[in-house]
Amino acid sequence: MTGWIAVAGLGPGDEALVTPEVTQALAEATDVVGYGPYVARVAPRDGLVLHPSDNRVELERAAMALDLAAQGRRVLVASSGDPGVFAMAAAVFEALEDGPAHWRELDIRVLPGITAMLAAAARAGAPLGHDFCAINLSDNLKPWSVIEKRLRLAAEADFAMAFYNPRSRARPEGFAKALAVLREACGDDRLILFARAVSTPEEALRIVPLGEARAEMADMRTMVIVGSSRTRIIERPGAPILYTPRSVPEDAS
Ligand SMILES: C[S@@+](CC[C@H](N)C(=O)[O-])C[C@H]1O[C@@H](n2cnc3c(N)ncnc32)[C@H](O)[C@@H]1O
Repeated sequence: MTGWIAVAGLGPGDEALVTPEVTQALAEATDVVGYGPYVARVAPRDGLVLHPSDNRVELERAAMALDLAAQGRRVLVASSGDPGVFAMAAAVFEALEDGPAHWRELDIRVLPGITAMLAAAARAGAPLGHDFCAINLSDNLKPWSVIEKRLRLAAEADFAMAFYNPRSRARPEGFAKALAVLREACGDDRLILFARAVSTPEEALRIVPLGEARAEMADMRTMVIVGSSRTRIIERPGAPILYTPRSVPEDAS
């Protein structure tokens, strides 16, 4: 039997946002490996073995997936959103780089998904309509000093900024520090979007000026987007539209 690995993104939550390519790979897989809540999104069926694991064991999980594929299994490694965005694709390649030579002969594919940043932006309007950057606010895999430097430089460059993992239960103080840095760099009037559990029944969106933003407005199911100096709101009946125009005037630098 020829094994393979598909590192696949399940999208932000809604079934309708899973790509047909990922659905097809799930139908052909013999094993699904991933963080428990993501594996729980896969419907069990005969012939499919589910391997849920804790979220702190990415490299072990990646090595297990590679090993299963080397034994001839068809392994889908599940990520939420897109697997290349702060997720399992890079972990699989880290394990591959350090692993036995025969793993490099495996059929390995990365199947993209709709990342939370794009799902959140689409719900609010088009806050990422001009140049932007994405930053993971977790200091699990990098020091806080790197995060703070990137926040300051992104603010100076006037990027819109999309923040993943804004506030963990283990380190709730990090996001309060990030908000303080942003207020200092961007001022109190800059718009900030909190988009929680996008595309799920618990979805909730909130747009406030930075001066009114509180750390408690985010949790680990929240995507945070801070606008650039050009990001604005269009008021209308119901939810406002948050968007960033596509152009910057000549004299803006
Ligand atoms: C470990 S990262 C994984 C990102 C994922 N690979 C992606 O592309 O969306 C987890 C973070 O993604 C964000 N996130 C994931 N799904 C979300 C959703 N449905 N709504 C809002 N934010 C979400 C949250 O910031 C969460 O802390």
